[in-house]
Amino acid sequence: MKNLQTDYLDLVLLHWPFGNYYAAWRVLEEYYEKGVIKAIGVSNFWPDQLCDLIHYNKVVPVINQLETHLYGQQKAEQPWLTKYNVAHEAYAPLGQNRANDMFAQPAVQALVKKYNKTPAQVALRYLTQRGIVVIPKSVHENRIMENIDIFDIHLTDEEMASLEALDRNLIMIGNSESVDRVESSFHWYDKK
Ligand SMILES: NC(=O)c1ccc[n+]([C@@H]2O[C@H](COP(=O)([O-])OP(=O)(O)OC[C@H]3O[C@@H](n4cnc5c(N)ncnc54)[C@H](OP(=O)(O)O)[C@@H]3O)[C@@H](O)[C@H]2O)c1
Repeated sequence: MKNLQTDYLDLVLLHWPFGNYYAAWRVLEEYYEKGVIKAIGVSNFWPDQLCDLIHYNKVVPVINQLETHLYGQQKAEQPWLTKYNVAHEAYAPLGQNRANDMFAQPAVQALVKKYNKTPAQVALRYLTQRGIVVIPKSVHENRIMENIDIFDIHLTDEEMASLEALDRNLIMIGNSESVDRVESSFHWYDKK
């Protein structure tokens, strides 16, 4: 907060369910209760980890930030988020440009043509229409403007279903149960 030159934070997320995250969560709870942090949430928690955290602590996370895009839609996770009133936030909502053919899919291209939008806009509109918060990242001003210009169209049920059908449960970054992911987290924390 000193570095940010602020005396409160709107939202702080626990990045991964690794290490002693229970202790970390309880510190966040203390700062939340003091009003220093206005909302606390988590990231990369699968439903079992989320449910466990909720049941054995006081504060329910306001949000769970999960890798979510057309190829990895996290449909199995959503009922649990709804049950515990935890908002679903999509990171890598454009697939981090790693799933190169995602935007070339005929279902996406048909909507690009119909609504005169870009593939990124179609993907982001689909997620927001499902009630998911999206945080696309771009270093280009024109793309930042493009990525927020998605609220003047409404996809029909059939169009939503055509995009839902693209799901292939592809999780490229956010699998907290992957040993590689756990090992790579040691390196992040070593650096800090
Ligand atoms: N909680 C976690 O573990 C976790 C993990 C990863 C990411 N995140 C968060 O999620 C945010 C977004 O995710 P991300 O950056 O990983 O992936 P992303 O938003 O899916 O993809 C970013 C990539 O898409 C490109 N892009 C942006 N807008 C575009 C558009 N309209 N058309 C075509 N390409 C476009 C960007 O290029 P340019 O920049 O060149 O435009 C960049 O290469 C990040 O800022 C980060 O805070 C969280």
